[in-house]
Amino acid sequence: MKTKIVNYPDMIKARDRSKGSTNFIMGKSEHLEEMKALAKGKKYYIHTYGCQANVRDEETMRGILEYVGYTRSDDISEVDVAIINTCAVRENAEDKVYGEIGNLKKYRKINKELVLAVCGCMVEQPEILQVLLDKFPEVNLYFGTHEIYKLIDLIYEVKKQGTKIVSIESKKGEVIEEELPAIRNNKFKAYVNIIYGCDKFCTYCIVPYTRGKERSRHFIDIMNEVRDLKRLGYKEITFLGQNVNAYGKDLEEGYDFADVLEEAAKMGIPRIRFTTSHPWDFSSKMIDVIAKYDNIMNFIHLPVQSGNDEVLRKMGRRYSRSDYLNLVKEMRKKIPNLSLSTDIIVGFPNESEEEFQDTLSLVDEVKYEAAFTFIYSPRKGTPAAKLEDNVPYETKSRRFKELVSHLERHIEEDANKYVGTIQKVLVDGVSKTDANMLSGYTETNKLVHFQGDESLVGEIIDVKITSSHTYSLIGERVDG
Ligand code: 5AD
Ligand code: SF4
Repeated sequence: MKTKIVNYPDMIKARDRSKGSTNFIMGKSEHLEEMKALAKGKKYYIHTYGCQANVRDEETMRGILEYVGYTRSDDISEVDVAIINTCAVRENAEDKVYGEIGNLKKYRKINKELVLAVCGCMVEQPEILQVLLDKFPEVNLYFGTHEIYKLIDLIYEVKKQGTKIVSIESKKGEVIEEELPAIRNNKFKAYVNIIYGCDKFCTYCIVPYTRGKERSRHFIDIMNEVRDLKRLGYKEITFLGQNVNAYGKDLEEGYDFADVLEEAAKMGIPRIRFTTSHPWDFSSKMIDVIAKYDNIMNFIHLPVQSGNDEVLRKMGRRYSRSDYLNLVKEMRKKIPNLSLSTDIIVGFPNESEEEFQDTLSLVDEVKYEAAFTFIYSPRKGTPAAKLEDNVPYETKSRRFKELVSHLERHIEEDANKYVGTIQKVLVDGVSKTDANMLSGYTETNKLVHFQGDESLVGEIIDVKITSSHTYSLIGERVDG
């Protein structure tokens, strides 16, 4: 099979809305009509790994595929297109992807027509792409995080020309989502991208290399999307960005992230969330806006990564332990009942026992209400990967356990405080752990299980909390 590297230099002009919306970009596809004929009665499979940015990309791919007539299936043996949307943030995310491609490749033998595609952050890294190309000759389409808009033409070329296609040419400087359709995975909770990419270049992180530099969406486009979601009855929106705080800095429109939050809050969406925020540019103006509006949730994900100044410096985080603690103090003072969550990495190169103890003491001082913990994993191409990964695995693993036990003590204590209170819960669906229960989230993002009728799904209801576990609460619906 031939391999073709495609470049579509000027297929669309980003932000050119002059010819209408969805139809404009889909109409630019050279093979729209042929693909509509080819997709008739056919199905697609898609599996997404990684963060919310990838989940939102999946929604765009679904929108494009369903626009030409494909329908979704979870059974790969019956599909015409199978897409694996990958994550590169840590090694174990990558290992899962290798495992899944290994399982799926046989379907190319069974179904000669199958387009087996791999996209997302892994393929954005040349070395990993090469490993994939060598290891899995069966995969016949690779496309990057900035090539989603050409999905239809890429599939068409693979099918019609029988070539393998690798399309990683990048439009990393532009925002092209405005013209793309999307099918949202949830009918009452929605992700809204506000900024793509990341310019922070923390030394351990691959994201700036896979998702490019920071590009904000136009304020008006974001607000139009929020208005549409409100009109459609959405109860919760989450503003997305690798660092939402940087919103607007690359534009000259005069709006910052606090303005995005405030304008959306005024539109009356019942729940507004956002992720992720870098502590370095979290402004007092943002804190004041969060404190002012009841419909901006009192939950902030504020990754700290380490509690030691030297490690923070080596990580390129741009803040010190005391900067971080001062920020937390201001947040806790101004925002009533604030719930704080974080990300922490243990075992960064050269991390000493004392330095790790600083992380534990910071955790004990902040008393996080939620947390994600990671063992350092070198990512090729990042500055930290040039340092020797010299903390032994046993040490990393012990530190990890110690850290989790400190975090859990605080999380459990916090969960216990809910018992006896009445919480507003947005009902998600039937509980994943008990088919007789429903589950949903409080304003502070605590998971609650309770008994109730499925007609409550998508509603915000009052639940009285009767008991607590570390990571979830049990409650009873309060009638009314
Ligand atoms: N090793 C371990 N954890 C990492 N993260 C990002 N890169 C790495 C890495 N190389 C973690 C950080 C980040 C979260 C999304 O993933 O804690 O905040
Ligand atoms: Fe994973 Fe980061 Fe890519 Fe999200 S942006 S999928 S976390 S590598």
